[in-house]
Amino acid sequence: MATPHITAEPGDFAPAVLMPGDPKRAERMARLILDSPRLVTDVRGILGFTGTYAGDGPHLGRPLSVMASGMGMPSITIYATELFRWYGVERIIRVGTAGGIAPAVAVGDVVVGVGAHTTSSMNELRIPGTHFSAVADFTMAAAAMQAAGAGLRVHAGTVISEDHFYFKVPGQVEALAAYGVLCVEMEAAALYGVAAEHGKGALGVFTVSDHLTTEGTNMTAAERETHFQDALTLAVAAAFA
Ligand code: HPA
Repeated sequence: MATPHITAEPGDFAPAVLMPGDPKRAERMARLILDSPRLVTDVRGILGFTGTYAGDGPHLGRPLSVMASGMGMPSITIYATELFRWYGVERIIRVGTAGGIAPAVAVGDVVVGVGAHTTSSMNELRIPGTHFSAVADFTMAAAAMQAAGAGLRVHAGTVISEDHFYFKVPGQVEALAAYGVLCVEMEAAALYGVAAEHGKGALGVFTVSDHLTTEGTNMTAAERETHFQDALTLAVAAAFA
């Protein structure tokens, strides 16, 4: 049985799915951390893979999936809903990039998104008369923070999930910084909402790829890959927590 946006068969996904935005990144991640990754879906070029975890440590050999989300809250909502509702998926960990907002966050740092503010109306529709609170699964967030090795610059706190990438509401970034919001991305709040709807677990782990309020150097390609691996280590810990 396929779903409208996923061609996989029941049982094709592991209980935990790591979810980058970019399908090519999903493929690279799958080849990097899975033994014998198997392509299980490719509708609209949104690639999904399942294999067994290839990393050292206690989780070696456990089933794990990697699937892209595409960009933005409607896109991740479609894939997360189908995975939770019809494929028995219990946990989704978004592994993405984000723009730094808080001055304490630097390009290359990793952010664990404990909660997500949003400019989207998607969660406003969920509980009548209620401003929805989009939060990560506590056990998963705690496991991710615990997996952060010494020397890794990692922050836990709130992020903002925006609908616009290019348009900025005047004064908004400054206000977000004043409230200690760590970074901006485009999917977490919706993912946390879908997880709450289905009684499942979700977490976002972000690599800060650029910064909106401080002058900083952008990462080199090599740095991007190293920092991406740091974020991946935290995401795997959350997947198996
Ligand atoms: N906005 C939204 N998403 C992002 C950004 C940004 O500035 N940088 C990386 N992902």
